[in-house]
Amino acid sequence: MTKIDVQPGIMEIALYQSGEATIEGVSDIVKLSANENPYGAGDAAKEAFRKAGQNMHRYPGTDHAALRGAIGEVHGLNADQIICGVGSDEVLQFISQSFAGPGDEIIYTEHGFSMYPILAHACGATPVKVAERERVVDVDAILNACTDKTKIVFIANPANPTGTMIGGNEMARLAKGLPEGCLLVHDGAYTEYVEGFDGGAGLVDSCDNVIMTRTFSKIYGLGGLRVGWGYGPKELIDVLNRVRQPFNLSNMQMEVAEAAVRDTEFVARCRSDNARLRAWLAEALAELGVPSDTSCANFILARFASEDEANACDAFLRKEGVIVRKVAGYGLPNCLRITVGDEAGCRRVAYAVKSFKEQKA
Ligand SMILES: Cc1ncc(COP(=O)(O)O)c(C=O)c1O
Repeated sequence: MTKIDVQPGIMEIALYQSGEATIEGVSDIVKLSANENPYGAGDAAKEAFRKAGQNMHRYPGTDHAALRGAIGEVHGLNADQIICGVGSDEVLQFISQSFAGPGDEIIYTEHGFSMYPILAHACGATPVKVAERERVVDVDAILNACTDKTKIVFIANPANPTGTMIGGNEMARLAKGLPEGCLLVHDGAYTEYVEGFDGGAGLVDSCDNVIMTRTFSKIYGLGGLRVGWGYGPKELIDVLNRVRQPFNLSNMQMEVAEAAVRDTEFVARCRSDNARLRAWLAEALAELGVPSDTSCANFILARFASEDEANACDAFLRKEGVIVRKVAGYGLPNCLRITVGDEAGCRRVAYAVKSFKEQKA
């Protein structure tokens, strides 16, 4: 049989594990495993979805002008510096594909988002994992790990799955301290959960080696639609557009995302509900002896006494119809990541953890 060679790095990829959605034999489920918006999409986005179906026979535009214009208007950004993708994952892929390859290194951090090493391997580069300090990105450790082969540093801020964040000054220190020719990717998937935060846009404007990525999958409640975007120096965005397929986004994706980004009231309401319920859930779990770091996102990283306890709690929650995320693969075997649900979802998971603790005692 002919041997078909696989490109370097591809066979190193460990397949991405997505949050589970079902439990066999259990019908009343609350899914808190994928950091989705528990309220779904906003009314404006749903209305746009209904309308967009009329034009399915038409090819979409290739330049995403209306969507980029809307994003630019709402966030006060130059639309020419914006690129849209099939989720922010695709934008991250454009970046790794364009700026790194065999022989290069891509830095991510100890508990960093699992797509980063996948993207590094996919372009033939070497992923380099750098230690964090107590589940927080450590800028000095990253700067120390840089070599002349380092081409990209991926940082999510707030981070997934820890929920922690570093300040703007630290991000700027990182951007400025990177070696010549090294790009900092400020992944802002959870930006909208942080009141008044620009997600790294200001850093893009003040440095020439930073790209920010954002998503419609979280606060906008459009994870199933698959739309994300990036903002960076015009010359770099022009590079990314060369590897982007012309019709990567459908009319429906663009029209719904445009309605969603303009619906700033829905975003503000979701942010405030999330903050209130996140604080309630963190406190309820802490009272049960399950602490967590202060989260800046729409999930909590609940820390158990041991890996065994985390696994036993996960199994108990599943029997109760509550699906959360095990994060042993992120180097956090004693933790469970719990998405902040709506009020009923939060009460249900807190009650289930309480029952778990009681039956153990
Ligand atoms: C930190 C981070 N970046 C990027 C993504 C990718 O999001 P999407 O491709 O849905 O935009 C996620 C999704 O969970 C994430 O947590």
